Amino acid sequence: MLSSLLPIAALVVPAFAVVQPSNTTILGQYGHVPPVYPSPNATGVGGWEGAIVKARAFVSQMTLEEKADMVTGTPGPCVGNIVPILRLGFSGLCLQDGPLSIRVADYASVFPAGVSTAATFDRDLIYQRGVAMGAEFRGKGSHVALTPVASPMGRSAYAGRNWEGFSPDPYLTGVCMAESIEGIQSVGVQATAKHWVANEQETQRNPSYEADGTLIQESVSSNVDDRTMHELYMWPFANAVKSGVSSVMCSYNRINGSYACENSKSQNGLLKGELGFQGYSMSDWGGVHSGLSSIEGGLDMNMPGGIGLYGMTWGHSYFGGNVTLAVNNGSLDLSRVDDMITRIMTPYYFLGQDVGFPEIDPSGADLNTFSPKSTWLTDDFVLNGRRSRDVRADHGELIRQIGAESTVLLKNLNNTLPLKAPTSIAVFGNDAGPDTQGFYNQVDFEYGTLSSGGGSGTGRLTYLVTPLEAINAKAQIDGALVQQFLNNTLIATSDVSTLVIPTPPDVCLVFVKTWAEEAKDRQSLDLDWDGNSVVESVAAYCANTVVVTHSSGINNLPFANHPNVTAILAAHYSGQESGNSIVDVLYGAVNPSAKLPYTIALEDDDYNGLPTTSVESSDPDAWQANFDEKLEIDYRYFDAKNMSVLYEFGFGLSYSTFELASLKISKAVESIPAVADFQPTAPGGNPALWDTLYTVNATVTNTGDVSGATVPQLYVTIPGPVGTPPKQLRGFEKVFLEAGASSEVQFSLMRRDLSYWDVILQEWAVPEGNFTFAVGFSSRDIKLSASLAVL
Ligand code: BGC
Repeated sequence: MLSSLLPIAALVVPAFAVVQPSNTTILGQYGHVPPVYPSPNATGVGGWEGAIVKARAFVSQMTLEEKADMVTGTPGPCVGNIVPILRLGFSGLCLQDGPLSIRVADYASVFPAGVSTAATFDRDLIYQRGVAMGAEFRGKGSHVALTPVASPMGRSAYAGRNWEGFSPDPYLTGVCMAESIEGIQSVGVQATAKHWVANEQETQRNPSYEADGTLIQESVSSNVDDRTMHELYMWPFANAVKSGVSSVMCSYNRINGSYACENSKSQNGLLKGELGFQGYSMSDWGGVHSGLSSIEGGLDMNMPGGIGLYGMTWGHSYFGGNVTLAVNNGSLDLSRVDDMITRIMTPYYFLGQDVGFPEIDPSGADLNTFSPKSTWLTDDFVLNGRRSRDVRADHGELIRQIGAESTVLLKNLNNTLPLKAPTSIAVFGNDAGPDTQGFYNQVDFEYGTLSSGGGSGTGRLTYLVTPLEAINAKAQIDGALVQQFLNNTLIATSDVSTLVIPTPPDVCLVFVKTWAEEAKDRQSLDLDWDGNSVVESVAAYCANTVVVTHSSGINNLPFANHPNVTAILAAHYSGQESGNSIVDVLYGAVNPSAKLPYTIALEDDDYNGLPTTSVESSDPDAWQANFDEKLEIDYRYFDAKNMSVLYEFGFGLSYSTFELASLKISKAVESIPAVADFQPTAPGGNPALWDTLYTVNATVTNTGDVSGATVPQLYVTIPGPVGTPPKQLRGFEKVFLEAGASSEVQFSLMRRDLSYWDVILQEWAVPEGNFTFAVGFSSRDIKLSASLAVL
């Protein structure tokens, strides 16, 4: 999915705008981009030692032209394609989006989005989702899944793609990355961690050009200091690399002034050097702006290759023939090209993709509007596989379960939920009913429920259980009356008592939504389609108003304390079983256990880390996003500033109640040097960073009278240097308990969990002083805590 050009954004200054002065010298305050060359060669360390031997043998048989092809995408059946080399028995690579579905496909499932997945706080479910998604990619013949997403992480509440990723908390996102990758790769499909790195806004994500291709302005530069880079934005990618992710997609933005896909510091230095990444760096689509500089800067694969963007035609690539040329004229060392291909082919062999991998489903090629057949440059894509293969299996059940277990119960006055067999129900809101925009939606349509956002992270639905449909089905069993009002304008502008039958319903269920999409940041934190007024209007009449939001993420919820709004559920984008999932929660078949993966502030103005939405200058370099807040994003910021919030990170109610007791903190090793002894780098960095230094135990009890799950969370206060957040999530465990039952949870604290990034030493260091270990049910609901020095 190529981005739209966004020069118009420079003219629009919405209320939340951050206007950055054009000041290139400001970069000096941030991390710098020292040159880091050469690009480290892969060694296969960390489990790929056997596969790299096969990859090298493959490379040794290739001609230079074949090598150039291997590192350059080409139009073909998938959204990204590496051309087959039939003479070597290599049938090419098929790369497909995306984070919640194999997007360009028929008969595939639409899973809950990343933000929903994170809200489960359930490692096993996240892993199972990865396995099921991986199976669908494989079933369709796609070798490489362009997922999961750790950037954007959610520096800003407004960023358009936060829902594709997981959470602004790096620890939670890191766990989600690891479980997703291990799930996807367990069925032999390559996962791609994207978008590396600090890709935190959509506005000006790409350079803007005149119609004739003349540059107007470069893409936004994410200016991040070294410590913030390590402790926030790199963190989840380290988990990804540790989990053996096959590829990492470099992002569109510049990082401290230099394009991500040619940034030698980020690719050669941080990713391949410090994190020991053994796979390949793949560009985002159209994110390459140079040939040699990108190759020397660590990029291994140019996607989609030649592109039809900015007046360039398919076949015109910074790589391709230029690679051959550069090797032949001596400006590029062949050994670098060989390493690029070795990196591409090692995970291919490691995952066994050379044996019995399914053929590409031809129906995907027909659905592919990005590179339709008319654009293909080769006859080598032979699509002999069976057409329209149904890869959905029984994934609907898992999707329904994740949908329910990711629905966050924010308010539940007088235990209004679960519903007690209501006999009269009124359903309100344009998010309740069937979608009117088709099942491959890319716009913020008015009528119909939202199960996903838009852009390359969307999915093509094969069916959608709407809330209204599922409520009607349940009501039919119960013999209940259901009235429906799906027109937001009508509801918002009416006296609702005139719409509904004279006797007030037992419950008014209001479904409201918020759309978000790739290439655009959100303009507001309000619910769309006047959703806040819809809730007010219903609540003015109905004393039992239950609000359900289907949203990309943060909404301001100004009605949260309205006495007639008895319950609020944040259901995010829950995928194709959306209606069944919400009915499971509303009626208590599933006891809610999800937690907010972000913070909802009291006021819109309370949020920091705003995207740069406008610049005052026509300087080509004017777009700068200074990450001045450093480590203070989301709860780290609200805690540091001691601000009250509406609903804090980690918060979510249950139909039961839980207690915590018996905090126990144990040292797991004899002695702890402040900085780990040197060990050769392995995937994930110094292996010692992943050693457990301490364990923390607590006993959790279900003190209510219904069974259900809860999520004890461990927050650690690290006595680090100035700027260290007051507390940081360092463990969570989802525990299911029968009513009255207890269980002991254990959190393992690894060296990285207890360290800060020392910018002088260029090492993770465990500080002296007292740490606080706090266990609770949210970032602000701490039940147990103890302090001690860990060194
Ligand atoms: C997106 C990527 C996506 C690619 C291919 C780009 O615009 O940023 O996330 O994988 O398109 O569709």
